[in-house]
Amino acid sequence: MKSYLKFAFVIVLALTFVNCGDKKPKEDFGISSEENSTTEATSEENTLNSLVKEGKTIFEGKGTCTACHKPDAKIIGPSLADISKIYKEQNASIVAFLKEEGKPIVDPSQYEVMKANFAITKSMSDEELKALETYILSF
Ligand code: HEC
Repeated sequence: MKSYLKFAFVIVLALTFVNCGDKKPKEDFGISSEENSTTEATSEENTLNSLVKEGKTIFEGKGTCTACHKPDAKIIGPSLADISKIYKEQNASIVAFLKEEGKPIVDPSQYEVMKANFAITKSMSDEELKALETYILSF
């Protein structure tokens, strides 16, 4: 009789063990769904990267912005790093500024010089302006 009980106990133990084993695939599933969200982040990053690239092309090309703006040094206009820092701090919209819908917040005393460019930026599509904004904020 005693050995029969022992046998039953071993079976219970074994079942418990099997149950634990059953849980494992669920944990693995949790990890793989985390991997999925990493994949999403990567494709978001790709969209961001292609916007930055497009912005750079416009900035250096038809925008002719490089004439007055350099990444790290102030020339005629403030550096992109300075613009990026202030727009992030104030959570302001570069797109709105380039549509002449916002106020100058970086160097208002030189606003007249920048204003001449609105003829170009106002002719751009929202997507092009968004690309310019994303490019500037990448600094
Ligand atoms: C003729 C020189 C010149 C050109 C070309 C120029 N900028 Fe500027 N930009 C300035 C000056 C000067 C300022 C500082 C005045 C100001 O802050 O508004 C400025 C400021 C800015 C600011 C900060 C605005 C703020 O809130 O104060 C942004 C953003 C900007 N420029 C984007 C651009 C983009 C994008 C282009 C190209 C389409 C461009 N600029 C072309 C001279 C220029």
